[in-house]
Amino acid sequence: MEKSLVIIKPDGVQRGLIGEIIGRLERRGLRLAAMKFMAVSSSLAAQHYAVHQGKPFYAGLLDYISSGPVVVMAWEGPKAIEAVRQTMGATNPTAAAPGTIRADLALDIGRNLIHASDGPETAAFELGLWFLPEDLVSWARDGERWVFE
Ligand code: RTP
Ligand code: MG
Repeated sequence: MEKSLVIIKPDGVQRGLIGEIIGRLERRGLRLAAMKFMAVSSSLAAQHYAVHQGKPFYAGLLDYISSGPVVVMAWEGPKAIEAVRQTMGATNPTAAAPGTIRADLALDIGRNLIHASDGPETAAFELGLWFLPEDLVSWARDGERWVFE
C-alpha cells in the first residue's frame, strides 16, 4: 500500500490544529501507519529540506520547521501520496483550493501548517529519514473494505 510522510509543522501544533488535521486525513479514509511527536534538530531539518538548499526561503524554512515540536506521521492507502497532497492543498494557502487544509486553516506560504511527500521517491526517502522500518505498523481496520475497494 502506498505511504506518504506527513508532518504537522510547528504552527499547526502551536495553534492547536493537530486534531483537526489528523481528523481530515482520517475522514478521507487514509490509514495511519506511524506517528510521533518530536522536536526537530537543525541537521534533520536540513536533510529533510535539502532539495531547497540555495533557494531564498531556505534559511527561513529551516528555522520554521525546527521552531517547535512537530507531529510526524505515515499515512497509507491507494494513491496515498496524491490523496494527501490534494487534502493538504497548494503550497501557498491563498492559492490552495477551498476545502483543503491550507486554504481553510492558513494564510501565509511560510506558515502553511503541513508537509506531505510529493512523489514515490520523495516518500521513500522521507519515510526512511523520519522513521525506523519497525516504526511502521502493518495493520488493517475493521470495515476496511468500505474504504479500500
Ligand atoms: P512541503 O514540502 O512543506 O510539503 O510543501 P510543498 O511541497 O507544498 O512546497 P515546497 O515547494 O516543497 O516548499 C517547501 C516549503 O517551503 C516554504 N516555501 N516558501 N517563500 C516562498 O516562496 C516559499 N516557497 C516555499 C513553504 O513552507 C513550503 O511548504
Ligand atoms: Mg515539498
